[in-house]
Amino acid sequence: MKYLSRRKFLQHTAVGGAAIIAARTLRATEPEIGIEVLLDEPIGTISPDLYGHFTEHIGGVIYDGIWVGEDSKVSNVGGIRQALVEHMRRIKPSVVRWPGGCFADSYDWRDGIGPRAGRPRRTNFWVNEPFLQKAPDGPVKYDPNQFGTNEFMHFCKLIGAQPYLATNLRSNTAKDFYQWVEYCNAPAGVTTLSDQRAAAGDTEPFRVRFWGVGNESWGCGGNFTPEEYAMEFRRFTAWVPSYGVPLAFIGSGPNGGDVDWTKRFFAGLLERDRGLLRSLYGWALHYYCGTAGKGDAIGFTEGDWYELLAKALRMETLIQEHWAAMAERDPRHQVKLIVDEWGAWHHAGTQVDSSHLFGQTSTMRDALVAGLTLDTFNRHADKVAMANVAQLINNLHSLFLAVGDKFVATPNFYVFEMYAAHHRGKSVRTVFNIPEITHEQGKPESVPALAGSASLHNKRLILTVVNPHASESRRGKIDVRGATVRSARGQVLAADDIHAHNTFEHPHAVETRDVSVETTGSALEHDFPPASVTRLEIELG
Ligand code: AHR
Repeated sequence: MKYLSRRKFLQHTAVGGAAIIAARTLRATEPEIGIEVLLDEPIGTISPDLYGHFTEHIGGVIYDGIWVGEDSKVSNVGGIRQALVEHMRRIKPSVVRWPGGCFADSYDWRDGIGPRAGRPRRTNFWVNEPFLQKAPDGPVKYDPNQFGTNEFMHFCKLIGAQPYLATNLRSNTAKDFYQWVEYCNAPAGVTTLSDQRAAAGDTEPFRVRFWGVGNESWGCGGNFTPEEYAMEFRRFTAWVPSYGVPLAFIGSGPNGGDVDWTKRFFAGLLERDRGLLRSLYGWALHYYCGTAGKGDAIGFTEGDWYELLAKALRMETLIQEHWAAMAERDPRHQVKLIVDEWGAWHHAGTQVDSSHLFGQTSTMRDALVAGLTLDTFNRHADKVAMANVAQLINNLHSLFLAVGDKFVATPNFYVFEMYAAHHRGKSVRTVFNIPEITHEQGKPESVPALAGSASLHNKRLILTVVNPHASESRRGKIDVRGATVRSARGQVLAADDIHAHNTFEHPHAVETRDVSVETTGSALEHDFPPASVTRLEIELG
């Protein structure tokens, strides 16, 4: 066994260095891990928008997930599932993206306004999915448009989040786009569209700031080349009336590591006028992790566990690579990165209803993906302006599952609840001094022995730490450089079984619990249980 030199591990501040891990050979007898929090090395402010959500008209996300209807026997607030509203308030969501996803580029916003009884039924983008072949002819195949713009805005208002609308670039026009802006943002009484909104009871404009210009324009959003998409982006965003709202346009960015898409889009955007950088608020990367062939969500092996966590950690490289590519045309980084779809994607089989396309049951493994990913965003708070986990309910990497009056929070929810403490904090560099561990056997998956992030809130430090090891705890000695430690307390999400998950029958199988933290003088020592996500709240002197 060989240890990294101090200089070498300081170069590995991202996740604290890469330990080559083979699950079968990592030993519990490893010495404790030094975690240094460097208060005088700020990275940036952690925007609550990094903890955003995504909702699409797909499977059970909208109908049966968010929207149950006013006449439903399921407790609701104006048609919106009450249990969902109550849980969302607990995690202080800042932004929700809607109506897609791929669905967005088939959606006509006009179908979803006006009296609900008169709204048209339209073929859902996802109707051809083989998974839905045997599903009844419900909303998953034919959208009844009962949940439209006003209903989405009410949902956002109820949970205290900002709306982020994705416009249809593939099958609607630029005029449809700016008229949607008008419907949402023009004051009542000034245009026919704003009067239509007011007639539905919303006299106050929605003041929507975030507008996605298409979705996955390299694929379901139109099969464009980057140059073609850049041209469409320029056309769609030219001279959109703002009604006093600082509109923030978000470009349809790359699929995972497709740096070529990023480079060629930026070149195309600036081809006519360098000033057009100003028309782009954020560049939206999509990245899903999954095991080979998108393996089972619950019935996975220990090897699958490490494979997925290693893939989740790839987010760090993706952020760095696209950030560097953007710098070639935007050296002052006026444009920030957005990750408006991320999460673990497993194959079908664990959905709670047979109509829930892409529905899956999230386990502790997915909770660790969430922790590792949110920590990555915190560590790059200077680069990433927003992120939206896909998707909120009854879908990939969901925080909730629901069918009829049954509702349960998944382990992912608890990670978001713990990490809400990071919101608006100052992200500070945190170094995990990890011994380099090499193994003769096992898959060449690389995960750190511990990973995390820290944020400062006046005299309170929030440190979140993931222990990716499937069966062994790790002891960490935490050194807060530049302050003394007065007291500390902790919360942990852990389970005896890496496959643990919540069900309608056992909704509390996986939950956070409070833990005590040892403080010795100015240092802290803590045992991070196997396969866990921990939050420490440290009061500084
Ligand atoms: O989240 C499911 C789908 O994944 C979205 O509709 C699409 O944008 C992505 O490919």
